[in-house]
Amino acid sequence: MKFKFKRWILVSLLPLAFACGGEQKSEQVTTQAPSKAETASDPYENWKDYQGTGPVSEFTLPADVDESMAASGQTIFESKCTACHKVDKKFIGPSPQGILSRRNPAWIMNMILVPDKMVMEDPIAKKLIVEYNGSPMANQNLTEEEARAVLEYFRTL
Ligand code: HEC
Repeated sequence: MKFKFKRWILVSLLPLAFACGGEQKSEQVTTQAPSKAETASDPYENWKDYQGTGPVSEFTLPADVDESMAASGQTIFESKCTACHKVDKKFIGPSPQGILSRRNPAWIMNMILVPDKMVMEDPIAKKLIVEYNGSPMANQNLTEEEARAVLEYFRTL
């Protein structure tokens, strides 16, 4: 937590340093940049490793999208998720567009099913909640089947 906080300070100071200009200042920024070891442990870099903590464990998605499952996923998404998620842009929560290229499918389902547990235990979810100013993803009490349908819908975005 302490380390993350420091990085936040660094990130928020960066534009300031550039705004002030001056070679000395930008040199200072370079020396403060995260080391290679720190970048390697960034959970966003290693997203494939995380399936999250929840009822769903690693599974392989079939190659083809199941259109009827995706359609029911869309209905669920539009009734229970659009209060906080917009497909085309960042809103209270992230846009689900392209989510399968940055998250493990099991992780996505676990985030939908047990977000409360995920933000306590999963490294990506812990970072996400900081990024979204501490506003928690709400548990919408979906069944595993409903969460799977929403995931299928996400594949079509
Ligand atoms: C009350 C607002 C709210 C509702 C309702 C909500 N979410 Fe979220 N969601 C968030 C926030 C905020 C985050 C960012 C992480 C955090 O703060 O926990 C998030 C994160 C996520 C993530 C991870 C996104 C990523 O890029 O890694 C997924 C997936 C997700 N939500 C799916 C859903 C689905 C599906 C529903 C509907 C069943 C839903 N959410 C309903 C607020 C919400």
